Amino acid sequence: MKVSIIGGGGLVGSCAAFALQCGGVVSQIDLIDLNADLCRGQTLDLLHGASLVADQRIRATGYEAIPESDLIMVTAGLRRKPDESRLDLINRNVELFLNILGQIKAAGVKKEAIVLVVSNPVDVLTYLATAQLGLPSRQVIGLGTQLDSARFRSLIAEALTLPATQVTATILGEHGDSMVPIWSAAQAGGMPLDKFPGWNANTADALFKRTKGSGAEVIKLKGGAGFAVGLSIRDVVHAVALDQKRILPVSSLVNGTYEMRDVCISVPTVVGRGGVEAQLEIELWAKEVSALQQSARVLRETIDQVLKKNPAAAKTPPKFEPAKAAAPTAQNRTVKVTMGSGGNGNGGSSRVTISGQSNGGRRG
Ligand SMILES: NC(=O)c1ccc[n+]([C@@H]2O[C@H](COP(=O)([O-])OP(=O)(O)OC[C@H]3O[C@@H](n4cnc5c(N)ncnc54)[C@H](O)[C@@H]3O)[C@@H](O)[C@H]2O)c1
Repeated sequence: MKVSIIGGGGLVGSCAAFALQCGGVVSQIDLIDLNADLCRGQTLDLLHGASLVADQRIRATGYEAIPESDLIMVTAGLRRKPDESRLDLINRNVELFLNILGQIKAAGVKKEAIVLVVSNPVDVLTYLATAQLGLPSRQVIGLGTQLDSARFRSLIAEALTLPATQVTATILGEHGDSMVPIWSAAQAGGMPLDKFPGWNANTADALFKRTKGSGAEVIKLKGGAGFAVGLSIRDVVHAVALDQKRILPVSSLVNGTYEMRDVCISVPTVVGRGGVEAQLEIELWAKEVSALQQSARVLRETIDQVLKKNPAAAKTPPKFEPAKAAAPTAQNRTVKVTMGSGGNGNGGSSRVTISGQSNGGRRG
């Protein structure tokens, strides 16, 4: 699979390229950046290590690489200032992003290409990409809360001195201030997290707060996030490249999942070669669902502000288009699963509903 990274000279883009190089799964990595020297430098540095890793083609290119890319990633953008919210970035980043979308379109995109948006505010920019590129919505993915979820798991593991890879915990909603921790499903080693010695509501609150502030914490200390976001991106790219059908907390256009519509937001999403292959509506605690819906409202308000400022962008609303491939579980079927027991009397046995991208609305 050939991947191009627009913004590949920058911190996020180059860390993503390095993570993909170490992964050794994709066959070609093309870096594109306004800063041509930086882009060539990053490429050269990657190339120097190639003989130690895998036989991949790594190039510094321009938009002429786009028509042959199977996955086009956008990491170009301006970074947050330490005290700036991600949504404040919007005014500075939207114009730049629309310009990049125009160049991608002009270059010509493969019919089956997947677009992965990383630049912030990622959910809003994913919405614009879905509207502007003319690709089916299932082919446009935002990194969403993938990095937040990774940070969340690592910080929980560190606090409880558990192995990081044995903690499963997810954050859904906006990649931003209204993100939602899904405590109802948090586990370590397959056991409910809230049953672990030393676990209590204060620990939980403090860990979520630290996770939410992690981006700003890293920006303050080293200027911007790189390694963890690179690995988070790799997870998504490999899910596509290897058609893994992994369930990841990524952002895409929703049309009824948890009764949310016309926003790009992170819900548990089956990711495979077709992009978004299904959006899963898993029964969560009621307070988690309402926090998720509130997050969608926050995002919708921002999208409205953006469209008001960019009437040209408003002319093409995104179209929700069904997934081609069926979800791994039969659609329309309600499946009993066991999740972590609820901390609010709401937990215990839960249901999974596959709402897919083939229609909206709750099913079950
Ligand atoms: N979604 C996430 O989880 C997540 C995490 C971290 C950072 N980000 C976002 O990623 C973006 C990049 O962050 P960074 O730290 O890599 O910034 P950076 O400044 O290091 O890199 C950005 C790169 O984009 C390039 N660029 C700017 N305009 C361009 C254009 N029109 N075409 C091609 N390249 C262009 C710049 O030359 C620069 O090399 C920011 O918007 C940041 O907020 C997202």
